[in-house]
Amino acid sequence: MAVERTLSIVKPDAVAKNAIGDIYSRFEKAGLKIVAAKMLRLSREQAEGFYAEHKGRPFFPALVDFMTSGPVTVQVLEGEGAILKNRELMGATNPKEAEPGTIRADFAESIDANAVHGSDSEQSAVREIGFFFAASEICERA
Ligand code: TYD
Ligand code: MG
Repeated sequence: MAVERTLSIVKPDAVAKNAIGDIYSRFEKAGLKIVAAKMLRLSREQAEGFYAEHKGRPFFPALVDFMTSGPVTVQVLEGEGAILKNRELMGATNPKEAEPGTIRADFAESIDANAVHGSDSEQSAVREIGFFFAASEICERA
Protein backbone atom coordinates (compact mmCIF):
# COMPACT_ATOMS: atom_id res chain seq x y z
CA MET A 1 0.00 0.00 0.00
CA ALA A 2 1.23 3.50 -0.79
CA VAL A 3 2.37 5.98 1.84
CA GLU A 4 -0.22 8.76 1.92
CA ARG A 5 -0.83 12.00 3.76
CA THR A 6 -4.23 13.06 5.08
CA LEU A 7 -5.59 16.13 6.86
CA SER A 8 -7.06 15.60 10.31
CA ILE A 9 -8.86 18.09 12.58
CA VAL A 10 -9.60 17.66 16.28
CA LYS A 11 -12.82 19.67 16.39
CA PRO A 12 -13.86 22.18 19.11
CA ASP A 13 -15.91 19.64 21.09
CA ALA A 14 -13.00 17.22 21.45
CA VAL A 15 -10.52 20.01 22.28
CA ALA A 16 -12.96 21.21 24.99
CA LYS A 17 -13.04 17.66 26.41
CA ASN A 18 -9.23 17.65 26.72
CA ALA A 19 -9.13 14.71 24.31
CA ILE A 20 -6.35 15.92 21.99
CA GLY A 21 -3.76 13.60 23.51
CA ASP A 22 -6.02 10.56 23.48
CA ILE A 23 -6.85 11.15 19.82
CA TYR A 24 -3.20 11.73 18.84
CA SER A 25 -2.32 8.53 20.70
CA ARG A 26 -4.82 6.58 18.58
CA PHE A 27 -3.17 7.88 15.41
CA GLU A 28 0.28 6.91 16.63
CA LYS A 29 -0.78 3.48 17.90
CA ALA A 30 -2.27 2.81 14.45
CA GLY A 31 1.09 3.58 12.85
CA LEU A 32 0.24 7.05 11.54
CA LYS A 33 2.91 9.71 12.00
CA ILE A 34 2.07 13.35 12.73
CA VAL A 35 4.20 15.31 10.23
CA ALA A 36 2.61 18.75 10.79
CA ALA A 37 0.40 20.17 13.57
CA LYS A 38 -0.98 23.44 14.90
CA MET A 39 -3.81 24.84 17.03
CA LEU A 40 -5.97 27.69 15.83
CA ARG A 41 -9.45 29.13 16.08
CA LEU A 42 -11.05 29.12 12.64
CA SER A 43 -12.58 32.32 11.29
CA ARG A 44 -16.01 32.03 9.65
CA GLU A 45 -14.31 32.59 6.32
CA GLN A 46 -11.91 29.69 6.94
CA ALA A 47 -14.68 27.33 8.09
CA GLU A 48 -16.87 28.22 5.09
CA GLY A 49 -13.95 27.78 2.70
CA PHE A 50 -12.83 24.50 4.20
CA TYR A 51 -16.35 23.04 3.99
CA ALA A 52 -17.23 24.71 0.66
CA GLU A 53 -18.42 21.36 -0.77
CA HIS A 54 -21.31 21.44 1.75
CA LYS A 55 -22.39 25.04 1.07
CA GLY A 56 -26.17 25.18 0.57
CA ARG A 57 -26.89 22.05 2.60
CA PRO A 58 -29.28 22.55 5.54
CA PHE A 59 -26.64 21.79 8.17
CA PHE A 60 -24.05 24.20 6.71
CA PRO A 61 -24.74 27.26 8.94
CA ALA A 62 -24.70 25.11 12.09
CA LEU A 63 -21.50 23.41 10.92
CA VAL A 64 -19.78 26.79 10.50
CA ASP A 65 -21.05 27.95 13.92
CA PHE A 66 -19.72 24.78 15.52
CA MET A 67 -16.33 24.80 13.78
CA THR A 68 -15.76 28.42 14.87
CA SER A 69 -16.99 27.87 18.46
CA GLY A 70 -13.54 27.20 19.92
CA PRO A 71 -9.98 26.19 19.05
CA VAL A 72 -9.19 23.19 16.91
CA THR A 73 -5.99 21.33 16.15
CA VAL A 74 -5.15 20.59 12.53
CA GLN A 75 -2.59 17.94 11.70
CA VAL A 76 -1.17 16.07 8.74
CA LEU A 77 -1.00 12.30 9.26
CA GLU A 78 1.34 10.17 7.18
CA GLY A 79 1.45 6.43 6.69
CA GLU A 80 0.49 3.50 4.53
CA GLY A 81 -3.11 3.95 3.45
CA ALA A 82 -3.37 6.94 5.81
CA ILE A 83 -6.58 8.33 4.28
CA LEU A 84 -8.69 5.21 4.81
CA LYS A 85 -6.90 4.27 8.04
CA ASN A 86 -7.80 7.63 9.57
CA ARG A 87 -11.43 7.32 8.40
CA GLU A 88 -11.57 3.89 10.06
CA LEU A 89 -10.14 5.26 13.32
CA MET A 90 -12.71 8.10 13.20
CA GLY A 91 -15.83 5.98 12.66
CA ALA A 92 -19.06 6.99 10.94
CA THR A 93 -20.08 10.66 10.60
CA ASN A 94 -23.06 10.00 12.88
CA PRO A 95 -21.61 8.77 16.20
CA LYS A 96 -24.76 6.70 16.77
CA GLU A 97 -23.66 4.63 13.76
CA ALA A 98 -19.93 4.60 14.61
CA GLU A 99 -18.29 1.26 15.45
CA PRO A 100 -17.42 0.80 19.14
CA GLY A 101 -13.86 1.86 19.87
CA THR A 102 -13.75 4.50 17.16
CA ILE A 103 -12.98 8.13 18.00
CA ARG A 104 -16.50 9.29 17.21
CA ALA A 105 -18.11 6.46 19.18
CA ASP A 106 -15.96 7.39 22.18
CA PHE A 107 -15.96 11.22 22.02
CA ALA A 108 -18.73 12.56 19.76
CA GLU A 109 -22.11 13.65 21.09
CA SER A 110 -24.01 14.06 17.84
CA ILE A 111 -23.66 14.25 14.07
CA ASP A 112 -23.07 17.99 14.25
CA ALA A 113 -20.46 17.86 17.03
CA ASN A 114 -18.52 14.78 16.01
CA ALA A 115 -15.00 15.26 17.41
CA VAL A 116 -12.82 14.86 14.31
CA HIS A 117 -12.45 15.53 10.61
CA GLY A 118 -10.51 13.42 8.13
CA SER A 119 -9.97 13.79 4.39
CA ASP A 120 -12.12 11.36 2.40
CA SER A 121 -10.02 10.94 -0.78
CA GLU A 122 -6.56 11.63 -2.21
CA GLN A 123 -7.95 14.68 -3.98
CA SER A 124 -9.52 16.15 -0.84
CA ALA A 125 -6.38 15.34 1.18
CA VAL A 126 -4.24 17.41 -1.18
CA ARG A 127 -6.71 20.32 -1.09
CA GLU A 128 -7.21 20.19 2.68
CA ILE A 129 -3.50 19.88 3.55
CA GLY A 130 -2.81 22.88 1.29
CA PHE A 131 -5.66 24.79 2.95
CA PHE A 132 -3.84 24.78 6.31
CA PHE A 133 -0.16 24.11 5.67
CA ALA A 134 2.62 25.46 3.48
CA ALA A 135 4.95 22.77 2.14
CA SER A 136 7.69 24.15 4.44
CA GLU A 137 5.52 23.41 7.52
CA ILE A 138 5.34 19.67 6.79
CA CYS A 139 8.23 17.68 8.22
CA GLU A 140 10.15 14.77 6.77
CA ARG A 141 10.16 11.93 9.28
CA ALA A 142 12.17 8.77 9.32
P1 TYD B 1 -19.42 14.89 5.78
O1 TYD B 1 -18.29 15.31 4.91
O2 TYD B 1 -20.60 14.25 5.15
O3 TYD B 1 -18.92 13.93 6.96
P2 TYD B 1 -17.44 13.54 7.46
O4 TYD B 1 -17.05 14.56 8.48
O5 TYD B 1 -17.60 12.17 8.09
O6 TYD B 1 -16.55 13.51 6.26
O7 TYD B 1 -19.96 16.17 6.58
C1 TYD B 1 -19.05 17.13 7.11
C2 TYD B 1 -19.54 17.53 8.48
O8 TYD B 1 -20.80 18.18 8.37
C3 TYD B 1 -19.79 16.36 9.45
O9 TYD B 1 -18.62 15.90 10.07
C4 TYD B 1 -20.75 16.97 10.41
C5 TYD B 1 -21.59 17.89 9.53
N1 TYD B 1 -22.85 17.24 9.12
C6 TYD B 1 -24.00 17.51 9.85
O10 TYD B 1 -23.97 18.27 10.83
N2 TYD B 1 -25.18 16.92 9.47
C7 TYD B 1 -25.25 16.05 8.42
O11 TYD B 1 -26.35 15.52 8.12
C8 TYD B 1 -24.05 15.77 7.68
C9 TYD B 1 -24.09 14.84 6.51
C10 TYD B 1 -22.89 16.40 8.06
MG1 MG C 1 -16.30 14.79 4.70
